[in-house]
Amino acid sequence: MRVDIVSLFPEFIDQCSAFGVVGRARERGLLSLHGWNPRDYATGNYRRVDDRPFGGGPGMVMLIDPLRAAIEAARAADPAETKVVYLSPQGPRLTQAKVRELAARPRLVLLCGRYEGIDERLIEAEVDEELSIGDYVLSGGELAAAVVVDAVARLQEGALNDADSATQDSFEADGLLDCPHYTRPVEHALGQVPEVLLSGNHAEIARWRRMESLGRTWLRRPDLMDEKSLNKADRALLDTFRSRYLRGLDESDGDA
Ligand code: ADE
Repeated sequence: MRVDIVSLFPEFIDQCSAFGVVGRARERGLLSLHGWNPRDYATGNYRRVDDRPFGGGPGMVMLIDPLRAAIEAARAADPAETKVVYLSPQGPRLTQAKVRELAARPRLVLLCGRYEGIDERLIEAEVDEELSIGDYVLSGGELAAAVVVDAVARLQEGALNDADSATQDSFEADGLLDCPHYTRPVEHALGQVPEVLLSGNHAEIARWRRMESLGRTWLRRPDLMDEKSLNKADRALLDTFRSRYLRGLDESDGDA
């Protein structure tokens, strides 16, 4: 997959994406990143990329022409069809389903804004989609673009060493949170590894993991789960989790 990043700080994303899974995906040739700096396309002595907003108010607005030229250069660098995605707090929130959709594309152009924003006419003319990484405001789109790059990189085939591990992640298996994980030692001052994980009984382990996933989602992110659409087996697992959890609360009340 090829990702082109239009940004005043393209090196930022390059450096964010040099390590771990993303770095490896790049080394393996599964992902290539290319930066395009609108300043390189700005004209005049000062190579301006921004100006004051019409109507007054604080901050600066990014100019149409340098951004447009940078986007055009990015588009022209590869013949594959591309989408231009503008990272902005005004877009719909990024989800794992959207990440999957983007990761399946041959290429992507990510547009990062700075200052107060981008001239609206550029957005209307060039942007196919806006995406936000959450309901908070960053000082620019670069961190958000790095998030998108990371999330799509790890889904490229061959990027993860254990091919299974992406499908077991939170949100991947039907939108539930992941179950808890443990490794050695079995006994530790901080607690014990749950017995069932040591049993070697794969059906029981799978059942426990499913119950924990359902339970965690119910506790932490009920917005992700539509209990009514759970099948009978899942509903029974969630009931078991819930009664154990509530009993645990009772016991800790008793301790107090
Ligand atoms: N740019 C500034 N804030 C952002 C956000 N929350 N998501 C994506 N891009 C942004």
